[in-house]
Parts: sequence; structure tokens; C-alpha cells
Amino acid sequence: MLDILRDRRSIRKYKDVKIDEQIIDQLKEAALRSPSSRGINPWRLLFITDKDMLEVLSRAKQSGSGFLKGASLGVVVIARDEESDVWIEDCSIASIILQLTGQSLGLGSCWIQIRNRMHNDGQTSEDYIRKALDLPEGSKVECMIAFGYPDEIKEPHPKSELEYGKILES
Ligand SMILES: Cc1cc2nc3c(=O)[nH]c(=O)nc-3n(C[C@H](O)[C@H](O)[C@H](O)COP(=O)(O)O)c2cc1C
Repeated sequence: MLDILRDRRSIRKYKDVKIDEQIIDQLKEAALRSPSSRGINPWRLLFITDKDMLEVLSRAKQSGSGFLKGASLGVVVIARDEESDVWIEDCSIASIILQLTGQSLGLGSCWIQIRNRMHNDGQTSEDYIRKALDLPEGSKVECMIAFGYPDEIKEPHPKSELEYGKILES
């Protein structure tokens, strides 16, 4: 696991290569094994490989989401907030588990923040996605995770640059 964390970087450029169903199944299994508060699992996960829909979703924000159109897979991380008061934490845990599992399977990925973000002056990114995917009223969309085989090389963050000052002495 530490080796995966050492190599982990956000990857936003992807090869035009399909991800096998078997790999997608492993991502699904990993996400469903995520811990959640009281085991409620308030998340819903939409796995999207349709290129037209990925392009639509890539326009959820004016910046920071465009690269989703070049991805082979996008996972939309949705929650029913009435199921848990800590759905944000639960969704975040499932999201990072998805990303790290993807990396272990040779995939690059990047988180696209949706909650608290705007599509334009009059519409939230959440509303834009709810409409695009015809999600039930009241669904919360925390983020989308873009996946694909990396088409960029990013050096790991060197250990010497880690912010050890943020580890407080007791
Ligand atoms: C909560 C969260 C929200 C993020 N939102 C975005 C985003 O909307 N668009 C994007 O391109 N990257 C996003 N990122 C990726 C960060 O920009 C990235 O993790 C950070 O710059 C550090 O780079 P690294 O992941 O390569 O170490 C997000 C990451 C997190 C954890």
C-alpha cells in the first residue's frame, strides 16, 4: 500500500483504451467494500463509459472537469443524505478507495469536485449533473472520478517535500 501511495498522482490525460469489464468489476467490488459510518453505505455509484455522456459530464464545471471527456470511465459518486449525517465522509472514503484500487490495476485517475461547485452563475454543478443523468430530486453528488490508462508521466512527490511540520508533537 505504501508503494501505491508513494507513486500516487492525479492523472488527467488518458490513452484512448477501453477498460475491460473485469477491471471495472474489481473497482465496483473495492468501492462496495469501503467502510462507512454505522455500515449504512449511503452512496450510490454510477459507472459511465459512454463517451457522449462523459463529454456532457465534463462540462459540469467551467474548469477542473474538462479532462473527463478524454477518460475511459467516469464514476459519479452520489449520496442520499437522508440516510446518513456523515455521507460526505462516507463518499470521500469510497472515492479514494476507488482511486487507489484503480492505481493498483494500472489506471490513472483524478477526483473532480462537484459538491459546492458551480456549473455557471445560475446553476450548481450538482444540479447540472442531476439533470444530465436524470437523478432523483434530493440526490447529492459529491464528486466524479475520472479513470483511464495514463497518457502522462508524473513524478512521485519526493519524501523530502512532505509537510512533516503538519504532524504535531503531542
Ligand atoms: C477533494 C478533492 C477535490 C479535487 N477536485 C479536483 C477538481 O475538481 N479538478 C481537478 O482537476 N483536480 C481535483 N483534485 C485533485 C487535486 O488537485 C490534486 O490531488 C492535488 O493538486 C495534488 O496533486 P496530486 O494528486 O497529483 O498529488 C481534487 C482532489 C481532492 C482530494
